[in-house]
Amino acid sequence: MKPVKIGILGLGTVGGGTVNVLSRNAGEITRRAGRGIEIAMAATRDTGKSRICDTSGFRLTTDPHEIVSAPDIDVVVELIGGDTLARELVLAAIANGKHVVTANKALIAVHGNEIFAAAQKHGVMVAFEAAVAGGIPIIKAIREGLAGNRIEWLAGIINGTGNYILTGMRDQGRDFADMLADAQAQGYAEADPTFDVEGIDAAHKLTILAAIAFGIPLQFAKTYTEGIARISHDDVVYAEELGYRIKHLGIAKRVAQGIELRVHPTLIPERRLLANVDGVMNAVLVKGDAVGPTLYYGAGAGADATASAVVADLVDVVRALTTDPENRVPHLAFQADALSDLPVLPMDEVETAYYLRIEAVDQPGVLAEVTHILAESTISIEAIIQKEPREGENRVPVIILTHTVREQNMNEAIARIEQLATITAPIMRIRLEYLNRE
Ligand code: HSE
Repeated sequence: MKPVKIGILGLGTVGGGTVNVLSRNAGEITRRAGRGIEIAMAATRDTGKSRICDTSGFRLTTDPHEIVSAPDIDVVVELIGGDTLARELVLAAIANGKHVVTANKALIAVHGNEIFAAAQKHGVMVAFEAAVAGGIPIIKAIREGLAGNRIEWLAGIINGTGNYILTGMRDQGRDFADMLADAQAQGYAEADPTFDVEGIDAAHKLTILAAIAFGIPLQFAKTYTEGIARISHDDVVYAEELGYRIKHLGIAKRVAQGIELRVHPTLIPERRLLANVDGVMNAVLVKGDAVGPTLYYGAGAGADATASAVVADLVDVVRALTTDPENRVPHLAFQADALSDLPVLPMDEVETAYYLRIEAVDQPGVLAEVTHILAESTISIEAIIQKEPREGENRVPVIILTHTVREQNMNEAIARIEQLATITAPIMRIRLEYLNRE
C-alpha cells in the first residue's frame, strides 16, 4: 500500500523531534500503522538554519500555505504554535480535505469548537494528543481507556516550567525570580514565560481535559486562572511544616451545580503521589466512578517526548484511513451532538480549604479579632501556627489552615481582615485540596 504523505508546519523543537522519531522508528511505525508515513514537505521560517533533525529527505518551504493546499499531502502536522496563523492554516487544511495533527494547546482550547465543527463538516480527523502533558497519552486514556466511567474529577501538574520553579524553591531554597531565570535558561519556558507562570498554558490544557472528561464544549474563557508569582519561599516552608507541598494544579471537578474549572497554586498533603512529582515532570490524577483514582506521569515537554504523542496521533490517523475511515473516536470523546450544557461555576461558588498567611502586629487580641471574623463567615479552622517575629520587626506571620468553605465567604473574610489596623500586608491565600479517594 502507498505511504501516507504528510506536511509539517514548523521545524522547531517539536517539529524536529517529530522528524527524528518518524525516521528512527520508521519500521515499527509502519508495522503498527499498516502503511508507511512519508514526510513530503515541511514549512519553516528559515530554510538555511541548523536544526536538530535531518531535512535532506523532503522539500522545505517558507510558505506554510503551500503545504495546506498541496494536492499530494494527506495529513498536515501543525507545530508552529500560537492561535492566529495556526488557526488560519488548520482551517484551510480542513477545507482542503486534509487530516490534521496538532500539538497546539492554545489553538484547541480557544478555537477547538470551531475547528472540530469544520472537521466534522469536511469528514476529516483532527488529533491533538500532544497538546496536553507532552508525551503522556492522557487524551487517549480519558477518551478511550476510561470511556466506561463517569469522570468525577481530575487534578494535574500540567505545566513543567511552573513545577520546576516550585520544586527549586522547596529543594534549593531559591526564590521565584531566580528559578524563573533558571527555567528560561534551560529552555523549559514558553516563548512568553507569563503563559507558564500565570497559569495560561495550564488553563489551555485543563480546558481540553475537562471537555473530554465531562463531555462539555471547550470553555477556556471560563477557566479561573491564578499563577505562582506571588508564592514566597516562606509559604513553601510553612506548608512543609504543616505536612503539605505547594503545587500549581489544574483542577476540573463535577459538583452538584456544574463544573469547577480552575488553575491555581494548591497545598496538597505531602504523602500524595502528586505531591512528589518534581522538576519539569507532569502528572494527571483522574478519578472515575468505576476505576477510582488513576495517575498518569511522564515528560510534559521536550522534543522527543512531545513527538511521541504527535507520531501516535499520526499512527491513529493512518490506521483509520487504512481500515475503517467512518469509525472514528469523537474529538471531545462524546458525540458532537450529545455534549452537555452543565455550567462552569463562577469561582465564588467553588468550595475548597485554604492556607492563609497573615502578617500581623505582635500584640494581644490580634488573633482573636482574626478568628472572630473567620467565625462570622462560617469558616472553621483546621490548624493555626504563629511564627516568631522576624528579626528587628514587631510583626509575626500567622499561618491558618481552614476546613472547606465557599470561595465567596473566604473573599469576604479576607477583605475584612485586611482592613484591621493590626494587619500589615495583603493576606497570602493558597487553596488546599486533599485529593483523597472521594
Ligand atoms: N511550557 C510548557 C511547560 C511546555 O512548561 O509545560 C509544554 O506545553
